[in-house]
Amino acid sequence: MLQDIILILDLGADNNTQIAREIREFGVYTEIYPHDISADQIRSIPNIKGIILNGGKNRVVNGKAIDVSNFVYTCGVPVLAVDHATDKAGCVLTAWADDKEHRIQELKDFVLGNCGAKENWSAANFVADQIELIKEQVGDGKVILALSGGVDSSVVGALLTRAIGDRLVCVHVNHGLLRMGESEQVVRAFRDELGANLVYVDASDRFLNKLAGVEDPEKKRKIIGEEFIRVFEEEAAKHDGIEFLAQGTIYPDIIESGTRTVKAVKSHHNVGGLPSQLGLKLLEPLKMLFKDEVRQCGRELGLPSAMVDRQPFPGPGLGVRCTGAITRDRLEAVRHSDAILREEFTKAGLSNKVWQYFTIVPPVRSTGVRDGVRSFEYPVVVRAVNTVDAMTATVEELPWTLMHTLAERIPNEVPGVNRVLYDLTPKPVGTIEWE
Ligand code: XMP
Repeated sequence: MLQDIILILDLGADNNTQIAREIREFGVYTEIYPHDISADQIRSIPNIKGIILNGGKNRVVNGKAIDVSNFVYTCGVPVLAVDHATDKAGCVLTAWADDKEHRIQELKDFVLGNCGAKENWSAANFVADQIELIKEQVGDGKVILALSGGVDSSVVGALLTRAIGDRLVCVHVNHGLLRMGESEQVVRAFRDELGANLVYVDASDRFLNKLAGVEDPEKKRKIIGEEFIRVFEEEAAKHDGIEFLAQGTIYPDIIESGTRTVKAVKSHHNVGGLPSQLGLKLLEPLKMLFKDEVRQCGRELGLPSAMVDRQPFPGPGLGVRCTGAITRDRLEAVRHSDAILREEFTKAGLSNKVWQYFTIVPPVRSTGVRDGVRSFEYPVVVRAVNTVDAMTATVEELPWTLMHTLAERIPNEVPGVNRVLYDLTPKPVGTIEWE
């Protein structure tokens, strides 16, 4: 089954993603395309039901006015032109209503009414379609996947395991910078519950040795990223007949760097660059999904909520929270305090309400008293922020009782820690992570 599709043509507006989300929320599939797509490309999209020209006030991309009116009207589907008063007759014109409710009604009228698109976009349909597509694409081949335990790679892992069983080789690299119990959870969910073909690599010592004495955050990131690729390559070389590399690329990764009109975002640590080095073909089954749709698919595939609903976790892991040169004692203090923080957030009902929360242990020590004796130990810094896109962030107002519990538990339970601080800095002027 292929879903009906509404195409959003990006003519320099800044709300393409929002419109796409809104259309998908009422059950119709949509994709954003750059302004320089041709009429032939549009006509070759199966099941296309309508086009939205979303150009903001001026339809200007990189300082140049864009005119697509000579071809979009020849594609044989209804066109909605937004914020633009001079389009051809026969096209539906609108300036988005200011309030969300009216805008959604306008969209609905166009998508379901004018275009007659069917509301057949759902996680269940997507999963069923993808399983068929993957079977077709992979044939008898084998696929390898770096399974970090993050939402995206976990959903790819579950989807491919369903589609091709043990011809998917999942490689979980423990770089020693994961949270408490994280690797065990990946092994349990994938090997024990889904019956996946999972290779577990404990490379902790290897990473920590490479990182010893390295203070600069960007150097740390680079070492972690490169070492990750090395370990993964070594694992891949042990398996014969692998043709594909699966990746958990999602739609925001594509539209932020892919369309001509939106600037590339900073590159984060992932396994990018691997396919060409390994001579593998790329398989990216989630590349058209937004994050919450990925989570829905995860639920559909039976992954536990602890995996599907988990907060974002950076590729370099706790390495950027054990600031400066990583030492094993501080790294353990980060891991242990993070586990306590997560436990207390869950008890307080905040775990799915706050966007990201974690602890940091900087390389400074201060004086305290423990059992009547002077101590000289590390502080734990608690960070809890809310954001929409991670570009700016506000600090969560934590209940005092929770802060009190943290101040009580952390210095009593985490070796080498005698203070707890709460970071009140929004982004900007801080960043979310400390490094
Ligand atoms: P900052 O610190 O830049 O963080 O405000 C914004 C978001 O990005 C995450 N982050 C990373 N994620 N690799 C990642 O995969 C990285 O190197 C990295 N650095 C920051 C951070 O956790 C937050 O969600």
